[in-house]
Amino acid sequence: MANERSLILFKPDAVQRRLCGELLSRIEKRGLKIVGLKMLQVTKELSAQHYAEHVEKPFYPLLEEFITSGPVVALVVEGPEAISVMRTMMGSTNGRESALGTIRGDFGLSRQMNLIHGSDGPEAAAREIPIYFKAEELIEYETTLAGWVC
Ligand code: PPS
Repeated sequence: MANERSLILFKPDAVQRRLCGELLSRIEKRGLKIVGLKMLQVTKELSAQHYAEHVEKPFYPLLEEFITSGPVVALVVEGPEAISVMRTMMGSTNGRESALGTIRGDFGLSRQMNLIHGSDGPEAAAREIPIYFKAEELIEYETTLAGWVC
């Protein structure tokens, strides 16, 4: 069981809809540890860096317009298999196809405004985390409850 970190964004629709607390609560209740947290405005340059593999795709202009439309909340979460745990909690890209009980299935009907981003694998996490966080912004700390997620 790998202890992993994942880059999570609460996208502009989550901020606009006042859902950040709800999403953060789900992540914390699941047992993942928050090791970095900030609010920021994504610029076009940052969007192109983050979504480098998608910039040539037909949907990229819509993605760029959306992700730069307002502030996001960026987090780094840590825990056992945190990347796949978060992907399962998030649900499918398209909210209309996402299962009830997932974040996108419970709160969205859109492929564009789908509330949350999570790294899709260890390589993506290793690439994405430094885009949003300097090393000194990630806090190493022990939790007394660590044993209950083993
Ligand atoms: S792909 O081509 O299958 O790899 O793309 P996918 O994994 O479905 O989506 C990659 C990210 O692009 C966003 N996306 C879109 N945004 C706006 N409009 C449209 N039509 C659209 N289609 C996909 C999608 O939300 C993914 O964003 P992240 O932040 O990675 O979840």
